[in-house]
Amino acid sequence: MSGTVFLVGAGPGDPDLLTLKAHRLLSQCDALVYDSLVPREVLALVPEGAEKHFVGKRRGHHSVPQPSTNAVLVELAHRHRCVVRLKGGDPFLFGRGGEEAAHLARHGIAVQVVPGVTAGIAAPAYLGIPVTHRRAGSSITFVTGHEEIDKGRPSVDWRGLARSSDGLVIYMGLHNLPHICAELIAGGLDPTTPAAAVQQGTVRGQRSVIAELAGLAQAVRQSELSSPAIVVVGEVVNQRVAACAPEPAAVEMPIPIPITPG
Ligand SMILES: C[S@@+](CC[C@H](N)C(=O)[O-])C[C@H]1O[C@@H](n2cnc3c(N)ncnc32)[C@H](O)[C@@H]1O
Repeated sequence: MSGTVFLVGAGPGDPDLLTLKAHRLLSQCDALVYDSLVPREVLALVPEGAEKHFVGKRRGHHSVPQPSTNAVLVELAHRHRCVVRLKGGDPFLFGRGGEEAAHLARHGIAVQVVPGVTAGIAAPAYLGIPVTHRRAGSSITFVTGHEEIDKGRPSVDWRGLARSSDGLVIYMGLHNLPHICAELIAGGLDPTTPAAAVQQGTVRGQRSVIAELAGLAQAVRQSELSSPAIVVVGEVVNQRVAACAPEPAAVEMPIPIPITPG
């Protein structure tokens, strides 16, 4: 009889943003499989004797190929009652959680998802930016800026998004930011549209820039912002209430491999 694999969202970095369910499972698990963007303070919740496997990836550095991660999960589930597969943010948002869930289900392993607080909402919130606002339209799109590298995905129609979405929350977008901003403007977005980029949101390394869309890529380069970062584009940025922004947590985001902006 195999155990259960829990696909657990670790949240964006601030350990206080872990869900109670994530906290409970981490404290009780027999084995942990974890990614890059999880602070030490969260990993410290795992019992001393639990098996721990790092399978993190950074852009351009696929340290552990996805099939190997899938195989590790199946193997651990055969030996343990409670296996936590911990992922930054939410496991089902640009986290390959869906692929891992399907793989486990195909192998007859019990699997449950535990949603987490996604960086795309939390990082702007730690600047006081709400990702929706009644005065800033009715739609927001979560989109990856990574697709030029990830050939497995259909490419993003940035010009189409410029016309169809009131706001954008862009994950993994720093590397392609000049191209993304140019395409959004070519698609009809006003070059003066407000935009923000937040590096390491919710933790000690949090830094940000706010600029007009046309100048965002240059502002990011001048400020030397680097991955992990979230970019927000749209009138929501003008609805910022700086007074409501929490202090970032005094924990470090582990950056295990030299960073390529992304
Ligand atoms: C593979 S995606 C995983 C997203 C994750 N599943 C989530 O829901 O937040 C990794 C990207 O999320 C963003 N990200 C994750 N944590 C972040 C943070 N604390 N601050 C800013 N961006 C972050 C960055 O764009 C990073 O490159």
